[in-house]
Amino acid sequence: AGAMVVAFFITVSVSAFVWGLQLPAPGGRVDPATLAQTPPFDKPELREIAPGQYEAVLTAQTWAFLPAKLEVPAGATVTFKITSKDIIHGFEIPGKRANVMIIPGQVSSVTVKFDKPGEYLYICHEYCGIAHHVMFGKITVA
Ligand code: CUA
Repeated sequence: AGAMVVAFFITVSVSAFVWGLQLPAPGGRVDPATLAQTPPFDKPELREIAPGQYEAVLTAQTWAFLPAKLEVPAGATVTFKITSKDIIHGFEIPGKRANVMIIPGQVSSVTVKFDKPGEYLYICHEYCGIAHHVMFGKITVA
């Protein structure tokens, strides 16, 4: 068993550091240490990029999303681009097909269409500490 552990360690180390294999980051990569100076994450906000098309740039940190409130008109399509300032968080919009991990160094991207007016929550679904349960934001679709 000890030899197996050593063999796995060597295999993982070689693939990560020699071959350069990493987790895929479909939204791209960003350095958490310089996030505050790195566009677009230096100014997390909702932007209209075309009529009815929005981009929501969010940052996650213990224990809040920035921004924590978004408002879009009914029928809007929103592409969320999210990264973490500190540790692993999650991003889920219950009732929508939006469920991604938020990993420091990576940009997670998910696109959601909001047809019906109402209020939708985006919640952290990855346990991230004592106040994990209060880590959420709200989207108002008017
Ligand atoms: Cu952030 Cu749980």
